[in-house]
Amino acid sequence: MSETPAVLFVCLGNICRSPLAEAAFRAAAERAGLAVHVESAGLGHWHLGYPPDPRAEAVARRHGIEMGDKRARLVTPEDFDRFDFVIGLDRDNLAGLRRIAPAGSRAEVSLLLDHVPGRKGQSVTDPYYEEDSAFDDAWQDACEGAEALVERLKAKAAKR
Ligand code: 4NP
Repeated sequence: MSETPAVLFVCLGNICRSPLAEAAFRAAAERAGLAVHVESAGLGHWHLGYPPDPRAEAVARRHGIEMGDKRARLVTPEDFDRFDFVIGLDRDNLAGLRRIAPAGSRAEVSLLLDHVPGRKGQSVTDPYYEEDSAFDDAWQDACEGAEALVERLKAKAAKR
């Protein structure tokens, strides 16, 4: 792994869950004093170039975090060599990532909640067609995953 771990979060639209995970992870890493490179991307093309969903921006803002100038983009085959971790938000995302990951690429591909003890294999539920409270749930899951990943990366950095 490179000195500064590079993490890419991936969901379907790149306007709800993966931008939340990106924001939660950036904040958790900053609190931990851990230097990271973090981005997010999507597997679907519907919202390319769009900012995060206003409901996602609102929940992050309620927790004191601004998403900045994030715009939706597609995950690419090159991402699997640019990033140390490519992390799907749900099981469909993970399956999609495994389909497009070039053979022999360096990224570790996983599911966000795989990193949380006791939550292996769980998906972060897609909030897009749900009511606002679903965005609170997605935020909580994003934070749990982000904290767990930061713990893992901190432990790894301490061993270097
Ligand atoms: P996301 O949510 O994958 O968490 O960004 C979605 C956004 C848009 C759609 C589905 C999920 N859509 O079907 O347009």
